[in-house]
Parts: sequence; C-alpha cells; structure tokens
Amino acid sequence: TERLKAELLEIALEAATRAGAFLRDGRPDDLGVAATKSSAIDVVTEMDIAAEKLITGLLADRRPDDGLLGEEGASVEGSSGVEWVIDPIDGTVNYLYGLPSWAISIAARKDGETLVGVVHAPMRQETFRAVLGGGAFLNDRPARVRPAPELGLALVGTGFGYLAERKARQAEVVRRMIPEVRDIRRGGSAAIDLCDVAAGRLDAYYERGLNPWDYAAGDLIAREAGARTGGRPGEPVSPELTIAAPPPLFDHLQTRLEELGAWHD
Ligand code: IPD
Repeated sequence: TERLKAELLEIALEAATRAGAFLRDGRPDDLGVAATKSSAIDVVTEMDIAAEKLITGLLADRRPDDGLLGEEGASVEGSSGVEWVIDPIDGTVNYLYGLPSWAISIAARKDGETLVGVVHAPMRQETFRAVLGGGAFLNDRPARVRPAPELGLALVGTGFGYLAERKARQAEVVRRMIPEVRDIRRGGSAAIDLCDVAAGRLDAYYERGLNPWDYAAGDLIAREAGARTGGRPGEPVSPELTIAAPPPLFDHLQTRLEELGAWHD
C-alpha cells in the first residue's frame, strides 16, 4: 500500500496543479462585475465542468480501473477498489467574486478509507496534502494543528448551505455560538477551512450539510495534522455534520453542537 499511496499522491498533485492553472488562467478578469449575474454564474459552471473533465480525464488515463465521484456529475464504479472524490472548485462563490480562497480538492479512497488528500489553492499559492499515516504538509512544510484552547478562546470556522431554510437554521446556531467563542470565520471553502485547522490558522471548524467531495481530502489532511474529525457523537464525518479540531476542543465543540441541534434543518 505504501507504493499505491505514493502513486495516488503523485497523480492527485498533478491533476490538481493542472486544473488549478486552467482555472486561474482561464478566469475572465471581469467575471464578478461586467457580466450579468446569471451569465457570470454560467461561466463559472462551465469552468467547473471543464476542470472536472480535465481531472477525470487525467485520472482515467493513468488509472483506468478506478472509480470516480465528482461534484459536477462524474460517477464511475471502477473495479480496482480505489475511488477518487473530486471537487473541481470548492469555494465557487469566492471564485466568482475574485476572492482568493477557492481550491481543487482531490481524495483517493480504498475500502471506505481515505488514503490520500490534496487541496490546491492556486491564488494562495498553497497546496495541502496528506497520505494516511504519513502526516500532513502545506507546500513542503509539515502542517500541524495549534494546541487546543478552551472553547471560549477558540477561533471557529463554519459555512452555510445554499438553501434559505437551512441557512436560517445555521444562522441560529451561529447566533448562539458567537458569544461563547473567540470569534467565527466564514471562509467560503470547506476544503480550505479544514486545511486551515490543519495549519493552525483556525482552532476548529464545523459545518452541516457538506458533500463528500467538499470534505474528503480536507478531512484526512486535518487528521494527519493532529485534529480529530467526526460528525455527531460516535459518528464519522458525514454530510450530516463535519467537525474538525484538536482534542479536547473537539469534544467540547461536538457536545455544544449536539445541544444546539446543529444537524437539524
Ligand atoms: C461550498 C463551500 C462552502 C460551504 C458550502 C459548500 P462549493 O462548496 O465549501 O464553504 O459552506 O456548504 O457547498 O459549492 O463551492 O463547491
């Protein structure tokens, strides 16, 4: 498996770097302003789809028997047992507005276990990567969580879904949380938020309603950097709830989120 992991990492890095250059260089400068809102969104959607095709094309070329799961619809069973989980642009709204925090997220998993994760943020010139059991890295330096503060001193990242009803519910949880922590951040890319926990730039992160392609790579990177990750008590990270923080902050945040009903819509 060590050889397999090294091979998967190399391919993931190549795919992410290529898609990153395509998305950075291909983004019209006036995307957020000149075009009408709906046509700007169409351009982003086209870039998103083209980037996913670029990534899945490269993966299928190198490892034709692997499965594929992508935000823009890629879905291939595969026969090798390895499955790639791909978000061509995580942080789509940041990309639309010209904010730098968007990333390509690529994970490879086997038998339900994530072996490799890469989160590449071209405008931040940052590539996070991790291999199961091999630690996490930001560019070429090891990434490490910061020592856990108590909840009252924690800088906590979170995010919101796209639907109004869910956002209202999430806002209610944030309203309760703000006075109980140092502050809240909403960065706009779940993959980068998880990596920011890994790099000690956030103490913790949580969000309700993510998809596997949003968290698959960042989850491994956060864990390899010393964070605990999970969902509701006793459960792994899932679309229901994603939490990342070093212990014992993880437990305190998880308990509080449970009390606030953070997984409800
Ligand atoms: C979104 C981002 C955002 C999170 C949303 C996600 P997308 O992913 O990760 O930070 O709050 O829940 O849907 O749509 O930009 O790939």
